[in-house]
Amino acid sequence: MEYRHLGKSGIQVSELSFGSWVTFHNQADVNAAVDMMSAAYEAGVNFFDNAEVYADGKSEEVMGSALKQLGWRRSSYLVSTKIYWGLHNNVNERNTLNRKRLIEGINGSLKRLQLDYVDLLYCHRPDKTTPIEETVWAMHNIIEWGKAFYWGTSEWSAAEIVSAVEIAERHHLHKPVTEQPVYNMFSRQRFTKEYERVYKDYGYGTTIWSPLASGLLTGKYSQGIPEGSRGTLEGYDWLRDELTNKEKLAKVQALEPIAKELNCTLSQLALAWCLKNPFVSTVITGASRVEQVRENMKAADVVTKLTPEIVERIDGIFEVKKEEEDD
Ligand SMILES: NC(=O)c1ccc[n+]([C@@H]2O[C@H](COP(=O)([O-])OP(=O)(O)OC[C@H]3O[C@@H](n4cnc5c(N)ncnc54)[C@H](OP(=O)(O)O)[C@@H]3O)[C@@H](O)[C@H]2O)c1
Repeated sequence: MEYRHLGKSGIQVSELSFGSWVTFHNQADVNAAVDMMSAAYEAGVNFFDNAEVYADGKSEEVMGSALKQLGWRRSSYLVSTKIYWGLHNNVNERNTLNRKRLIEGINGSLKRLQLDYVDLLYCHRPDKTTPIEETVWAMHNIIEWGKAFYWGTSEWSAAEIVSAVEIAERHHLHKPVTEQPVYNMFSRQRFTKEYERVYKDYGYGTTIWSPLASGLLTGKYSQGIPEGSRGTLEGYDWLRDELTNKEKLAKVQALEPIAKELNCTLSQLALAWCLKNPFVSTVITGASRVEQVRENMKAADVVTKLTPEIVERIDGIFEVKKEEEDD
């Protein structure tokens, strides 16, 4: 496992990390979480991602109990959580980054995670109604109180990120250091285009999500929705349409000969493709069972096999022209 700096910050993250969206509580109990986190940690993963909204707080509870059982030295790993949607359908508690919500939010997350601090705290989405200055001050205070060490954004626009960084610089506050955006072979436009200036001009890091497009890029949906997969879960109908989209499935099928040539699985090819981008600090992998973790952790070995010719063939499948990514 290699480690990459989170942008210009001093902290280093394993190039492959592990997150709990959908899986913890819904598909994996504490024992399964222990097995998967343990397999990831043994492979060198040092970063575990979570959010207060995942399974309405239960994902943090599962990870907290798992960490307690695992008993790793606290300084040997990083944990993150994210705040925005909230847990209660009430004014000031839903879809906000106001000061009260952020501070009450981190206190609740720390209790559920049974931790004294998280290493990274994200604003899970931008809030168009709270002044960015209020959010920046609250995040700064949370860091000053030792409840988090670094903070970041998730799916903020480049303009919103620049605004937060500049407010922090103006007031000598802790700046956000990383964005958590979607990035995979299907969803690459925002990552490669819009965010480029925040990596280059502001040294922002990235912890990218859904590298397998929720499992679509594993090829498992080619013959329909497999039993026990994310595509069968209640409440994920919006995702089911994506996972069974014929055009997308045809693209995944076209990747198969490339994976075969490189002697790897489709999952490993898709993860390695993300790792190849130098602006990716870490690829957050997801898994519902330990075998998937073991398979995915070998993706780093595939990166050197991704020659310019192979990358061009992949771009051809996804109909991306070279100048589109370069300009
Ligand atoms: N900031 C945000 O807004 C945001 C949004 C989404 C996710 N995230 C973070 O990013 C992490 C990863 O996202 P993701 O879970 O969507 O990642 P993903 O890699 O796109 O999908 C992971 C899912 O694909 C399936 N899978 C993974 N490896 C496999 C393999 N080798 N063979 C077969 N199936 C495999 C599993 O689902 P099944 O077994 O159920 O099929 C697994 O749960 C999340 O846990 C979360 O921490 C952040």
